[in-house]
Amino acid sequence: MSEQRKKLVEVQDLTVKFGSKRHPFTAVDRVSFHIFQGETFGLVGESGSGKTTIGRSIIRIHPTAGGKILYGGRQINGRISRQLDQEVTQKIQMIFQDPMSSLNERAKVDYIVSEGLYSRGHHLPEKERQEKVAKALSDVGLLPEFASRFPHEFSGGQRQRIGIARALIMEPDFIIADEPISALDVSIRAQVLNLLSQLQKERGLTYLFIAHDLSVVRFICDRIAVIQKGKIVELAESEELFAHPFHPYTQALLSAIPQPDPIGERNKKLLVYDPDCHHYGPENQPSWQEVCPGHFVLASQEELERYRGQL
Ligand SMILES: Nc1ncnc2c1ncn2[C@@H]1O[C@H](COP(=O)(O)OP(=O)(O)OP(=O)(O)O)[C@@H](O)[C@H]1O
Ligand SMILES: [Mg+2]
Repeated sequence: MSEQRKKLVEVQDLTVKFGSKRHPFTAVDRVSFHIFQGETFGLVGESGSGKTTIGRSIIRIHPTAGGKILYGGRQINGRISRQLDQEVTQKIQMIFQDPMSSLNERAKVDYIVSEGLYSRGHHLPEKERQEKVAKALSDVGLLPEFASRFPHEFSGGQRQRIGIARALIMEPDFIIADEPISALDVSIRAQVLNLLSQLQKERGLTYLFIAHDLSVVRFICDRIAVIQKGKIVELAESEELFAHPFHPYTQALLSAIPQPDPIGERNKKLLVYDPDCHHYGPENQPSWQEVCPGHFVLASQEELERYRGQL
């Protein structure tokens, strides 16, 4: 992938803490990555590894304890101007994991989809707002008449489409899709993925796609970062990551993917990641290393040499 490409999002040494000053808990620990304009970047890791926290820090819901987040070259974490804040609120949208709980049950679809427009300050004429809602609904394959209904009248897949319409109405450039299909029936997952990919092609959108399962991101992501306990342990182009997973945690995640072939599946060895397997001494601490062009791993010098030997 050429380094000439424009970096739309840059996350540099991002640290996010929760808890009190006396008992802080580091949910995201000096995480760095960038996302090129127009690409789909996958962030994969087990529950509690910090994926949602990173997404919520980018959209400025969580304050950051350290590091920088740049959008289009401008810093967007910490104190920023009102104008930039409004711009970020419009340009960056998030789609949530659970369409059953992320939609306000008491509001009509019409309100839910246009909520972001209200928060932008300037009031649209009612007719224009209704037209925008109708367009957003039809863009995600729903009937404009659905605007007058309530969320409970819809299936999981339709509700996720409403969530996508709510993001699209803002005309974003960048969408953070936080496990957008995990809560959906297997039969409708592909439909939602196809919709996201079609919208990306039509509008040149950039995605941060969050998942806890590598198989989901394999075919839709250009590059993938693997996160474990708040730290990114490996990052590479998708096919490269599947062909040469170096970090034992990535290998464990890969071993958990079910195989279509029943004999292979029966004989498969499920790897369990043991963080103590690294034996880091004081002079042998891990750091972010490039094993081969574009393929990074959190490794000690000793591990790096071993990984390079495997190529
Ligand atoms: N608002 C909060 N207050 C306190 N702790 C939090 C808060 N949000 C997240 N955490 C903690 O930070 C860690 C990372 O949480 P996060 O939700 O980012 O994980 P995740 O990778 O998205 O997990 P999942 O796959 O379950 O969605 C967890 O230990 C979580 O308990
Ligand atoms: Mg999450």
